[in-house]
Amino acid sequence: MNLLSFRTALLRWFRKARRPLPWRRTRDAYPIWVSEVMLQQTTVATVIPYYERFIERFPTVESLARAGEDEVVALWSGLGYYSRARNLRMAAATVVERHAGRFPKDLETAMTLKGVGRYTGSAVTSIAYGTCAAVVDGNVRRVLSRLHAQRGLSDARAQELASDLLSPRFPGDWNEAMMELGATICTPAAPRCEVCPASKGCQGRDRPQHWSEGKPRRPTVRTRVDMVLVKGAGRILLTRTPAGELMQGLYELPNHGLPARTGGHTDLPEKYPGLDIEPQPIATVRHAMTHHRIEAHVFLGRLRNPKAVGDLSFFPLSGLNDVPIGALTRKALAAIGLKRRESPGM
Ligand code: ADE
Repeated sequence: MNLLSFRTALLRWFRKARRPLPWRRTRDAYPIWVSEVMLQQTTVATVIPYYERFIERFPTVESLARAGEDEVVALWSGLGYYSRARNLRMAAATVVERHAGRFPKDLETAMTLKGVGRYTGSAVTSIAYGTCAAVVDGNVRRVLSRLHAQRGLSDARAQELASDLLSPRFPGDWNEAMMELGATICTPAAPRCEVCPASKGCQGRDRPQHWSEGKPRRPTVRTRVDMVLVKGAGRILLTRTPAGELMQGLYELPNHGLPARTGGHTDLPEKYPGLDIEPQPIATVRHAMTHHRIEAHVFLGRLRNPKAVGDLSFFPLSGLNDVPIGALTRKALAAIGLKRRESPGM
């Protein structure tokens, strides 16, 4: 199969099979940019409701540039990797101030924006403007490995192979077609070669698994977190994660992280001497993030002196939707029946 007929076959397939995703209804760079940032490390199914809420609240790059960081992070709450939200807001301000409100057309300029790397820059500029920039994400990398029957592609080699294949006439559709193929047909565990539009030109077709063996997984790290729920008059106490920590800026129930161990007493009273804490947890929730597995126990607590909240703050339960809250606390509040929507896919 030559390159031209390969491109034609894949593009034709994509135009028929593409999923009707909300960000595919537009060619406006701003919503496409938002979707591509959300889609980093996050599945399409999880992203859709977040994307829709985000675009409804911030329909233009100007509205996002004007927004406060807390509100942007609150809307992101549950998607994880919150630096994505902070960078997106800062980059929106740069687009308004330095680029007359237009996401840059050329990849090198786009990549000067905070949080826009080669992947996001290529995706947005190719889809919105037809810039010739090839996308390499995890899906594309697997498709390339199989197509070329080459394992362990370096980043540079993968980029080179993707750029060689890129359709110069339809770079945006091409990039989306490659990603879509990896997401829906050339999947990691059960590729459906029998219905693949690229199977004729695929050198790895006989042994797809062999060519796409990934990097070895990082070993799982288990952590136990003890959290304390202090509730009264329709309000709860929350603490803000300091800058420099993983969940920087997010609010959580007051907590103490420990290396994993089962049972045993809690060290919460030593960390929060101003609280009376019940000895037995009222709920247990679990959360997975990359290679971390967290088990959280929630204890009931009371303030000894109602005026001495220290660096904790009271928040009304009815206003929690506007507060950027970490995933573990959201799960804990949902488990004890105190909170609102749970995000899908978590
Ligand atoms: N994954 C990330 N961006 C995508 C896109 N535009 N199409 C399909 N899958 C994607």
